[in-house]
Amino acid sequence: MHSYTLIAPAKINLYLEIVGDRPDGYHELVMIMQSVGLSDRLTLRPNGAEEFRLYCADPRVPADNTNLAYRAATLMAGQFPKVFANLGGVDISIEKNIPIAAGLAGGSADAAAVLVGLDLVWNLGLTRPELQALAARLGSDIPFCVAGGTAMATGRGEILDPLPDLDGLWVVLAKYNSLAVSTYWAYSAYRECFQENYISSPEGVRSRLSEVSSGNLVRAIARKDGVAIGQLLHNDLEKVVLPEYSLVVELREVLARSGGLGTMMSGSGPTVFTLCRSREEAIAIRDNARQVLPDPDLEFWVAPLCTSGIQVSSEM
Ligand code: C5P
Repeated sequence: MHSYTLIAPAKINLYLEIVGDRPDGYHELVMIMQSVGLSDRLTLRPNGAEEFRLYCADPRVPADNTNLAYRAATLMAGQFPKVFANLGGVDISIEKNIPIAAGLAGGSADAAAVLVGLDLVWNLGLTRPELQALAARLGSDIPFCVAGGTAMATGRGEILDPLPDLDGLWVVLAKYNSLAVSTYWAYSAYRECFQENYISSPEGVRSRLSEVSSGNLVRAIARKDGVAIGQLLHNDLEKVVLPEYSLVVELREVLARSGGLGTMMSGSGPTVFTLCRSREEAIAIRDNARQVLPDPDLEFWVAPLCTSGIQVSSEM
């Protein structure tokens, strides 16, 4: 058996629309998800034991089954009990680079890497759809984290339709270290404020999905038209998160005035991103925002949009 190191990229939402309620308590969504080159690095080493052990230098990352990466491992053990009994568990080391509770799917990316990594360590030969079906049982964003690139995501977020790659563009990501938003809270607050606007009939939901999938943003992505993409960024969750977080509003305004292609909050926030034409433009926008908002609690990352999901970086 081999050990594997995997690269797990973060995601941003170029588009997030809450369409309606679902009988399972989740929301029916239409999203356009995009991988960005800000990545965690996970190493999975066979440990010959009847358990999984998780290590992370960041004390905010739990090492038990409250961690999605740990839950991904136990899900795989439950799915393949004979393989687990014969080959044993793995030690999972996580080098955490994606900020936590940031709207960037950091925990989901780690879980996706564990699914892909255990498939390799145990030599299971699972197909992409099989891995994505397991991923969907753990969390709504995890199937996308397995696939990566640019994709339309519907249902809870787990039904994926790939879109043309958006390489060449860059983002500045910005987040106050001390702020964290609960995704559960954001969706619950949205339901409380906007439930009367929800589309309730299945036909209504289907027609909204087809409107978005043939709409301007998807067409702009197909043309790789960064200017149009920047103008069409959208996130319904801004309506509930921004009123609660004045620092994020101010940060968003500073970035939006900075000359990039467009600025938006990612997922349930509080990370804000600005889409940029180049790495140079992203660095200039970051430097300007740092000068205007000189707060040591405010952290920035410059990253390219990327075309892949979980990548194996080495086999030992
Ligand atoms: O699927 P995941 O565990 O990442 O979702 C976190 C929370 O976000 C859920 O508990 C739910 O409250 C909310 N959510 C939702 N509708 C979705 C996805 C997430 O209401 N489609």
